[in-house]
Amino acid sequence: MAKKYYITTPIYYPSGNWHIGHCYTTVICDALARFHTLMGEDVFFLTGTDEHGQKVEKEAAKRGITPREFIDPLVAELKDMWRLLDVRYDRFIRTTDGDHVKGVQRVYQKLYESGDIYKSVYTGYYCTPCESFWTESQLAGGKCPDCGREVTLQKEESYFFRLSKYAPRILKLYEENPSFLQPKSRMNEMVNNFLKAGLTDFSVSRTTVKWGVPLPFDEKHTAYVWIDALLNYLTALGYGTADESLFERYWPADLHLVGKEIVRFHAIILPALMMALGLPLPKQIYGHGWLLIGGEKLSKSKENARPELTDPYELVKRYGADAVRYYLLREIPFGSDGEYTTERFLLRVNADLANDLGNLVSRTTAMIVQNFGGKLPARGPLEGTDGELIAMAEGAFERVKEAMEGLNAPEALDAVFAVVGRANKYIDETTPWILAKDETKRARLGAVLYNLAEVCRMCAVLLKPFLTKAPALILKSFSCGEDMGFNALPFGLLREGTEVVKLPPIFPRLGVKKELAEVEKLVSAQKKQQNAIKKEEKNMAEGAEKKPEISIDDFGKVELKIGEVIACERVVKSEKLLHETVKIGEEVRSVVSGIAKFYTPEEMVGKKVVVVTNLKPVKLCGVLSEGMILCADDGKGGLALVSPEKAVESGATVR
Ligand code: MSP
Repeated sequence: MAKKYYITTPIYYPSGNWHIGHCYTTVICDALARFHTLMGEDVFFLTGTDEHGQKVEKEAAKRGITPREFIDPLVAELKDMWRLLDVRYDRFIRTTDGDHVKGVQRVYQKLYESGDIYKSVYTGYYCTPCESFWTESQLAGGKCPDCGREVTLQKEESYFFRLSKYAPRILKLYEENPSFLQPKSRMNEMVNNFLKAGLTDFSVSRTTVKWGVPLPFDEKHTAYVWIDALLNYLTALGYGTADESLFERYWPADLHLVGKEIVRFHAIILPALMMALGLPLPKQIYGHGWLLIGGEKLSKSKENARPELTDPYELVKRYGADAVRYYLLREIPFGSDGEYTTERFLLRVNADLANDLGNLVSRTTAMIVQNFGGKLPARGPLEGTDGELIAMAEGAFERVKEAMEGLNAPEALDAVFAVVGRANKYIDETTPWILAKDETKRARLGAVLYNLAEVCRMCAVLLKPFLTKAPALILKSFSCGEDMGFNALPFGLLREGTEVVKLPPIFPRLGVKKELAEVEKLVSAQKKQQNAIKKEEKNMAEGAEKKPEISIDDFGKVELKIGEVIACERVVKSEKLLHETVKIGEEVRSVVSGIAKFYTPEEMVGKKVVVVTNLKPVKLCGVLSEGMILCADDGKGGLALVSPEKAVESGATVR
């Protein structure tokens, strides 16, 4: 039976504003999952979303919508991001899925019955954005030690998990199994910051949060979101349901790959829960580093004024999934933090993919087409550096394997690109363009091109865990199927006479300076848009400000018309915006206005309003706005639409 490999990403908060930092964990997991699949293992790769808790509850309430209505579009965006990046998971779990909810309830019931969960009173400092509780001594200057934001003191009746009981066993686990938590620095951190002092029991339920899994033995309480979230790794496999076959097949996880800020939950709470449930412990937790901007963890709110392009959708659109995957897998030494800049991204993609790999393949295929009419020439006796090149290509698999077993994708890619580099050097050494001029050297030319073709093919196979487009293109140009796997790595598999098609550059060479200038424009346009949203949202309050005198000509520049709202919906990404479809005479326009706190979409439909119709269109939160609806604002929180006092046709001019 094939060896099993169960790998997970953390489940993502449905916060939207996805950035390249979010892609890091999941792209690495995808590469590992693909690698183990190519190794012939029985792989299960899990990812998903962490949907309960106070944050979602609050955000939805602010918008006057249900948590589900708030989350669904964000989950769809996340799935779309994984689709764009060719992330191939086996299950996308949502903590709102019925089987997960049931599984969480079973776990709570079991732990309650065994006495590992008991009732008491909780006092602690809560950081809502991180969904984390802290004791006073853990706070950093009174703020959340993870994100530096404000915390609130909370006191409530709560159920507790007997974490204290498991501290000695966790310490022993670390001692006996140093690979359980990697890299080593994270283990030291856990031991010194948490375990050494002993663990206190852990609050695992809330009465103040309604958007969560109700506890089966006390429905006033919902499960604390972190316990709910951690259990996804079990429930995704059917734990606690009638069919536990996947759980039996894959549990325990071989790897939980997580960002370093959430190691605490994975390396302490998760094993303690497994001990309490009498289940096997995960084999390994790895806490990777962060992508930084300006030395700080990349997160949308902290992006400052830097012109870095961090939007994964835009990056994939401009440079392709392979470029983004490659950057993430190659650039940052595994386990460390790495500064993200658009320039580093472009330089990396240009140098390795466009120049080294792209060039090698396009030169090789072009020369075979040009000199041998697209039929692969015969292999020849070894000469010069042939043996060295072949040995290096054949040895790369072991290097890739060793690196990937140590979770080190940058090192694995380094091994493949060392072969690519060697092959490009081999072209310079063998000078096939000179051989081509001499008829007596035809066999040698053929042998050189055969060697290059084989090396291209082998590199394509080796790149399959990392890149998802280029390997298939390269293999196809040598008439090989996309499904060619690691068993096709010995040199010499291609037959003489195989049809070879010239491959155009798979990665266009980027003019870095030009590209940087364009990207800067794009990013500043995106920022302008965000500012426009903020401005639109602030508009009402500013209405009260005294404005300078204007002439009748100034006023005449503004075109005002009566419009009828024929449809209206909320802009999910903003708590203040509504998106109206307005009929103005024969014309229908899309208008976004900052009135969601004052009117529901249902109230808006059918209203006759005054619209500024000659404003330059803008996009607000991605929605086109082709006008502005006028409102009266008393500056004290009162707001009313301006409407004609008598019935009048839509399209009438206001003057
Ligand atoms: N919901 C929790 C995880 C629960 S798992 C039982 C969570 N979600 S998250 O959306 O905030 O983070 C998801 C992943 O994205 C984490 O691995 C996190 O470390 C990663 N990243 C988010 N920003 C990042 C960078 N700037 N750099 C690298 N990875 C980072 O935490």
